[in-house]
Amino acid sequence: MVNNRNILVNWILCCIFLRTAWGSSKYEIDEFNLKYYNLTLDKELSLVNKNEDNVLLPFNITRVPGTKESLFIQSYIQKYYNNTMENDWDLEIDQFEASGYNFTNIVYTLNPDAKRFVVLSAHYDSKLEPKGFIGGMDSAAPCAILLYVSRFIDQVYSQDKLNIDGEMGVKIVFFDGEEAFKEWSDTDSLYGSRHLAKKWAQEGVIEQIETFVLLDLIGSEGNHTIPTYYRKGHKQYRLLNDIEDAFLQTVYGEQTKKHKELNKRERGFLSMNQLLIDDDHAPFWRQGVPVLHLIPNPFPPVWHTIDDDFHHLDQGNINKWAILMCEYLQTRMAFPNE
Ligand SMILES: *[C@@H]1O[C@H](CO)[C@@H](O)[C@H](O)[C@H]1NC(C)=O
Ligand SMILES: *[C@@H]1O[C@H](CO)[C@@H](O)[C@H](O)[C@H]1NC(C)=O
Ligand SMILES: *[C@@H]1O[C@H](CO)[C@@H](O)[C@H](O)[C@H]1NC(C)=O
Ligand SMILES: *[C@@H]1O[C@H](CO)[C@@H](O)[C@H](O)[C@H]1NC(C)=O
Ligand SMILES: *[C@@H]1O[C@H](CO)[C@@H](O)[C@H](O)[C@H]1NC(C)=O
Ligand SMILES: [Zn+2]
Repeated sequence: MVNNRNILVNWILCCIFLRTAWGSSKYEIDEFNLKYYNLTLDKELSLVNKNEDNVLLPFNITRVPGTKESLFIQSYIQKYYNNTMENDWDLEIDQFEASGYNFTNIVYTLNPDAKRFVVLSAHYDSKLEPKGFIGGMDSAAPCAILLYVSRFIDQVYSQDKLNIDGEMGVKIVFFDGEEAFKEWSDTDSLYGSRHLAKKWAQEGVIEQIETFVLLDLIGSEGNHTIPTYYRKGHKQYRLLNDIEDAFLQTVYGEQTKKHKELNKRERGFLSMNQLLIDDDHAPFWRQGVPVLHLIPNPFPPVWHTIDDDFHHLDQGNINKWAILMCEYLQTRMAFPNE
């Protein structure tokens, strides 16, 4: 982990700059964050660089609920938070049995006493069929990105607390049981998210969620488009769109051939404002939570085939979403009301 004082002290300066920048609806990715990405991405999210800090390669296994591979991943995630975070992250384990399987949602919370939370989520389980299905984009890469972003915001929180709004907290959710075992239906799918949404409704957490971000089918090769789906999340989509514009101007933007995935003017889904893609956000969306669903439409061609493996992931796209999520979260934590 980087512990370069200069980077961190300068975070304070950059945030002042960022406020001005976003005020005029233009976003800038500051040099100090870029330096952080430069020092960490290649180690932590690389498809080829095998080392103990790599958080992506451990997900290159099947992760069917209740199996030993699933238990390995659960323990891997917990070890990661145990061993790399500087701040106290509160652990919530939501475990239950349904349809003859054991499911385990894992939630880590930074600043658990906060009044409001930004939720970042992905599912860590993989499909039972086809046999040996890995789910590189569905959702190995999104889970690894969440781990990377957690460490980033943990550092910001340690070093730049002045620029974090004390009323804001972060919840990182790793859902189990997103996939259907047989045919997708209301009762055979979304086991984890349905259970957690119900639990959080009973506990009053639902009302505290300011934005629920779900990453799914992210990190695969090829050019994709990710439209804006919901009116309540559109303001957040616009922020992310501005961040993407800034990203494309960086050296990392070149790794993605400057292909733009977001398009705030394409309003087809927005005008319908309906649940057309069933996914882990659905049980939360139905309770009125503002949702930012980050999923390409159309789905990438490897979707639910044996080809959704690590060979069909794209390093540039993985780096991109790691950076976009870091920038997004830092901004949300600094200026929750803008
Ligand atoms: C990372 O930094 C090194 C050294 O400054 C530079 O040579 C390299 O091009 C940078 N890479 C990226 C992707 O920014
Ligand atoms: C992922 O695992 C498969 C099967 O074990 C292996 O062939 C492949 O090289 C691995 N991919 C990466 C990027 O490590
Ligand atoms: C993480 O730390 C907690 C508390 O110290 C401990 O109970 C738990 O076993 C640890 N988990 C792993 C997977 O290391
Ligand atoms: C679920 O876990 C419990 C406790 O570890 C175990 O007793 C039970 O047999 C498991 N159920 C299934 C369906 O694997
Ligand atoms: C992807 O998008 C970039 C930028 O728009 C373009 O240069 C490239 O040719 C596209 N690649 C494919 C395979 O369509
Ligand atoms: Zn899937």
